Amino acid sequence: MQVFENGEHVIIWGDAIKALSSNIPDCSVDLIFADPPYNIGKNFSGRKDKWESEEVYLQWCYEWLNLCAQKLKDTGSFYLMSATQSMPYFDIYLRDKVYILSRIVWYYDSSGVQAKKYYGSLYEPILFCVKNKNKYTFNADDILVEAKTGAKRRLIDYRKPVPTLYNTQKVPGNVWEFPRVRYRMDEYENHPTQKPVALLERMILASSNPGDIVLDPFSGTFTTSFVAKKLGRKSIGIEIEEEYVRIGLRRLHIQTHYKGEELKREPRSYEVKHYSERQQLRLFERG
Ligand SMILES: C[S@@+](CC[C@H](N)C(=O)[O-])C[C@H]1O[C@@H](n2cnc3c(N)ncnc32)[C@H](O)[C@@H]1O
Repeated sequence: MQVFENGEHVIIWGDAIKALSSNIPDCSVDLIFADPPYNIGKNFSGRKDKWESEEVYLQWCYEWLNLCAQKLKDTGSFYLMSATQSMPYFDIYLRDKVYILSRIVWYYDSSGVQAKKYYGSLYEPILFCVKNKNKYTFNADDILVEAKTGAKRRLIDYRKPVPTLYNTQKVPGNVWEFPRVRYRMDEYENHPTQKPVALLERMILASSNPGDIVLDPFSGTFTTSFVAKKLGRKSIGIEIEEEYVRIGLRRLHIQTHYKGEELKREPRSYEVKHYSERQQLRLFERG
């Protein structure tokens, strides 16, 4: 296990269960976002996201879920993502450890591979849990969205003693629509299941305050730590694959070099093409 840090932000290169057990004190974290491997066969830098059976996968998950509950402060919040087929198990498992306040659906449009003989999946489930249902952070005013009835339709509520326009803003409901991260987006990193900045912004703004500690045990491209930093929170990110730790070191500006190499974002294929076209043009102009 190796730890990299610069004051407010910590990256732990290692196994989530080991790092949670040995590096994070109990009741010390304000917010946890956990987006584990889903047991659906993705390839994480050569590590296959597939366990020998569903039972073995679930037992592994229960181990780190217990640790997450243990590491949360009494006022802490926990957001958990998983595959649609695993979430029912986690929902039931967590009920005597935390309070599940919302069952969120992250919906996205998908124009890629389409299912032909069943209904294709266009969402991922998220559980929003708190340790103490009477004492937790929820900054509703920081995440307001447009309320169409008031803002677009300009309807008036005549049931009120004095007829009043409906509110133009509201707290988001439990269906969240954010586009998935695409190759041409600025935030894109080379990882098969990178989560969008906008998704993490909503959770971190709502469920933590500046200066709070945000933990992600399966950091991937370190979106959680990146957004935590942007919003003035502290972060701890754990990741087992060195390739993704390198992305985190760069995204969080913890190091400029790693093992003697400069940490640079890989150029996209279209950027390389434009660059070489520009070079050719320059040679042509000179010639
Ligand atoms: C679903 S991805 C997380 C993606 C991340 N939320 C993002 O926005 O990029 C899960 C990550 O967990 C990592 N991982 C798998 N097993 C792990 C373990 N035992 N401990 C820590 N990380 C692990 C994988 O390498 C992968 O990057």
